[in-house]
Order: sequence, then C-alpha cells, then structure tokens
Amino acid sequence: MGIMYDDLAKWWPVLSPVADYAEEAGFFGKLIDDFGLPANASMIEFGAGGGNNASYFKSRFNEVLLTDLSADMLAISAQLNPECAHAVGDMRTFDAAATFDVVFIHDAIDYMTTLDDLNVVFRNVYKHCKTDGLVMLVPDCTRETYEASTDHGGSDSEERSLRFLEWSYDPDPEDTHTVVEYVFAFREGDGPVRSEHETHHCGLFSREQWIAGLSGAGFVVTTVIDSYEREVFLGRRY
Ligand SMILES: C[S@@+](CC[C@H](N)C(=O)[O-])C[C@H]1O[C@@H](n2cnc3c(N)ncnc32)[C@H](O)[C@@H]1O
Repeated sequence: MGIMYDDLAKWWPVLSPVADYAEEAGFFGKLIDDFGLPANASMIEFGAGGGNNASYFKSRFNEVLLTDLSADMLAISAQLNPECAHAVGDMRTFDAAATFDVVFIHDAIDYMTTLDDLNVVFRNVYKHCKTDGLVMLVPDCTRETYEASTDHGGSDSEERSLRFLEWSYDPDPEDTHTVVEYVFAFREGDGPVRSEHETHHCGLFSREQWIAGLSGAGFVVTTVIDSYEREVFLGRRY
C-alpha cells in the first residue's frame, strides 16, 4: 500500500482539485476534436486516478472505461464520474478484452521507470486501440525537458485540508528515473495536523525513446507541445 494514492486517496480532491485540470483538459479535448471521433465513440484511460481529466472530456464519448492500480483512487473517480465504468488494473497487464477509439494516459505514465516497462505499456495501449484510433500520452517531461524543481500545493474543503511539498531531483542521470519526494500535512476539519512523507520514482526517457517505442508498437507518431510546455505523444493506429 502506498500513501498518496492509497492511504490519502480520499484527500485527492483537496490535494489536486479538479478545477486545476480545466486548462490542460481543454487542450486534450481539442486534440480529440481535431482527431474527429466516430459515432458512439469509446475511450479507455490507464492510470486515471481520481478521474479529473476524464471528467472534462467524458461527454464526448458513448463509453468511458477508467482504470487504475488503486481501487481507492477509482472510488474517488466514481464520485466525480458516476456514468463511467471503472476497473482496477496495472497499465502493463490490464486487459479490457475490448478496443477503444481513444486510449489516454496522462501523468500516470511517469510511473513506468524502465524502458522495458514503458514499451510493455505501449504494446498494451496498441492492443486496446481500434484501427483508425488515437492514443494520447502525456508524460510530465522527457529527458530533454526535465528540470529539478520544488513545488507546493493543496487546498481545503469543508471536511478536510491538505498541503504538500513536492521536490523532484535526478540523483543518477545515467538511469531512467528521477526521484520525487512528497511531504504531506493534512487534517480532518479542525482536528490535529498529521504528516506523511513518501518517495516516488518517475521514469525519464528521451523523446527518441518515446517515438521509437510507440512506432515499434505499431503507431504512426506525431507530437504537440501543450500550454505547460509538455510534449504530448499522439499515435494513430492504421
Ligand atoms: C497523478 S494520478 C493520475 C491523475 C489523473 N491523471 C487525473 O487526471 O486525475 C497517478 C495515478 O497513477 C496510478 N498508477 C501508478 N502506477 C500505475 C500502474 N502501473 N498502472 C495503473 N495505474 C498506475 C496511481 O495509482 C495514481 O492513481
């Protein structure tokens, strides 16, 4: 069990409020519109977490399946996206036994820390993508754009409050992951403040590795830069 996506899952709406996703989700929605959905379109997201992005573009689809490793995060998503289907699963091995017009993975792809795992996901994404479908993958950064950083955030609801510090650094530029330290301070109502610390490892791959992996899985790849200066990887399955 992890802390951020398991023990603290019910704090997700104050840790990462859905309103903070409006701008990027608008951008992804426009990419979907430019792609041009067929009638009765379907979408699957791997690593959907609390379902914040999906909540902005789910209405474009007839069928949406949101999947994640954490049942606790999916329970939060189910409150926000009650009309969507939810299923627990690892993006490397999940099998929906179906194909979809759009396959989306947002920042959850950062949890692939080896090139082998990244390529396993690319093959699983391909398996779930319809012919003429679109895959949209949004890593926080590539090796070329990564910068060590410190950030903070959090907010309050009527029931609970949380603040966090996020500290990202790359102790070994020779390997394929960075380290992200999270420190959380949180409390229910006016109760005592508790704190937790958790270390995450996030994958770091060159854009050449991204493009080669997606091409090798069978996609025709293009990229586009979003308003956060992230390179969004788009793959078409023909
Ligand atoms: C930052 S959250 C995703 C939030 C989501 N992008 C949104 O729009 O709300 C990252 C999620 O990745 C999930 N995750 C991490 N490793 C995973 C894996 N191997 N397979 C599926 N999900 C994974 C975590 O459980 C967590 O819910």
